[in-house]
Amino acid sequence: MATKNQESTGLLKLLEDQVADIYYAEKQLLKALPKMAKAASNDELRTAFTDHAEETKGQLERLEQVFEALGKPAKGKKCPAIDGILEEGNEIMDEFADDAALDAGLVAAGQKAEHYEIASYGSMCAWAEQLGLDEVAALLNETLEEEKGADEKLTEIAESVVNIEAEEGDEEDEEELVDAGGGSSRNSKANASNNKSTTKAPAKGASAKNGKR
Ligand SMILES: [Fe+2]
Ligand SMILES: [Fe+2]
Repeated sequence: MATKNQESTGLLKLLEDQVADIYYAEKQLLKALPKMAKAASNDELRTAFTDHAEETKGQLERLEQVFEALGKPAKGKKCPAIDGILEEGNEIMDEFADDAALDAGLVAAGQKAEHYEIASYGSMCAWAEQLGLDEVAALLNETLEEEKGADEKLTEIAESVVNIEAEEGDEEDEEELVDAGGGSSRNSKANASNNKSTTKAPAKGASAKNGKR
């Protein structure tokens, strides 16, 4: 509970502020995840986004319980960070709409959102514990674990299929280019986005280690 101590009051205020921030963020994610699922061509990735959208509904309900425990109305506060992350995700969906690397880009966009959530829930959880708000801490921790699970799932999909398919797509494009004896803006864009050399292919593992430390 909040004490009369100035610092504890500040921390409680901060917690309330950040709960409102993440409430807004979760609502935006609930709208974005089905769009990302629709854009994904890999079945596993589409399912991961769809499943996480369902999980997000539960996370919003949990946040409503947090607001209640804090004695505050459930009200979001505009979060420019998530808006920016999702805007970048939209850019990826536009720019890579017909590209074999689209799914890899979607995974990255999803993971950027997950990492924001993990940082936010992790901090809020620690503050709630510090404040002795056990119920709030437990609710936030439950969501934190789901966010970590979603992030790990995306890493697994990226490393087992999506990154490999993106690279194979590149190779096919290169073959087409050789056959056609020319280039297209689509291919030059795809290659520019891929920091791998087209001549020597170290194949797997050359790309980002999706979310791994
Ligand atoms: Fe979430
Ligand atoms: Fe999430």
